[in-house]
Amino acid sequence: MGNIKRLAVLTSGGDAPGMNACIRAVLLTANACNIDVIGFKHGFNGLLEQEFQTLHPHHVDNIIQRGGTILKSARCPAMEQPDGPVKAAAILDQLNIDALIVIGGDGSFRGTMAISKHYRGQLIGVPGTIDNDVDGTDTTIGFATAIDTALDAIDKIRDTADAFERIFLVELMGRHSGYLSLAAGIAGGAEQIICPEFGKLDADNLNTIITPIKHAQLLKGKTSYLIVVAEHSYPGGVTALAEALTMAIGIECRACILGHIQRGGSPVGADRILATKLGAFAVEQLLQGANLVMAGEVDGEARLYPLAKTGERAKAIDPFLVRWQQQIGSF
Ligand code: F6P
Repeated sequence: MGNIKRLAVLTSGGDAPGMNACIRAVLLTANACNIDVIGFKHGFNGLLEQEFQTLHPHHVDNIIQRGGTILKSARCPAMEQPDGPVKAAAILDQLNIDALIVIGGDGSFRGTMAISKHYRGQLIGVPGTIDNDVDGTDTTIGFATAIDTALDAIDKIRDTADAFERIFLVELMGRHSGYLSLAAGIAGGAEQIICPEFGKLDADNLNTIITPIKHAQLLKGKTSYLIVVAEHSYPGGVTALAEALTMAIGIECRACILGHIQRGGSPVGADRILATKLGAFAVEQLLQGANLVMAGEVDGEARLYPLAKTGERAKAIDPFLVRWQQQIGSF
């Protein structure tokens, strides 16, 4: 049984809707177990700079519905240098922190792992990223909201695409994962989805995209046509891809980059529940002695997964939906 009197929490990397709900669950659970909680600001930067505050229940009043993170977030290049993790561990010891909860993605978990070599306390990760690219959990906090946010935009683009009978390319985030693009593309009824998991796009040969477009035009005449494209799929992004397609098929293609809109907004119910469950589970598991694990959810059950393995391999996207989309996308 871990003897935890004081724990710290931080949010790191790309913020995700539901991070606040998770901070709230951590604080409320810890307080119920008589554990003090401090929050580091701006991710690992706040840890290295000793920028922190003691969290009390009133700090988490009315935050469950808010996007972003009250602790702020950031990326921290210093944690990738040899000195960063050493300094972070020394500060945690100096501040008498018995355990640290890191809410973030696999990059943040790499930083957490690096601290472990120099720290006497316990470390646990909670997966929070819109990308859903963390292995060991079915979904990450923020993913469900990001799908709906992207979908809201895709539906609106469909309206104007339909009115003008235009071809639109919509770029979605996801870093190197097609999770968000596949989910929002399927739910938005996109005619094509382009993401890393569908194989590398050959920038010199766009026939795999062009042939289905021509097919659709033959079959249906002039019509709206949406292509959801995961970021980093094509050099120069969707703007360049739309230009290349316009040249190749002689029909004007429009591009739309959804960008950081996908990270904002009020978390949907599923994210609030997941965030609450995983935040509470993380605290309870720390009390049971958990260390160097991530608190995730698999098949509806809260589960621990080795932190070191969370970024080991690319998390596979739903093979059923991949096969189906490829089948319908080629007509
Ligand atoms: O990891 C979350 C994410 O939003 C990715 O989807 C995206 O590639 C990246 O962060 C953008 O990072 P930044 O906000 O630093 O531009």
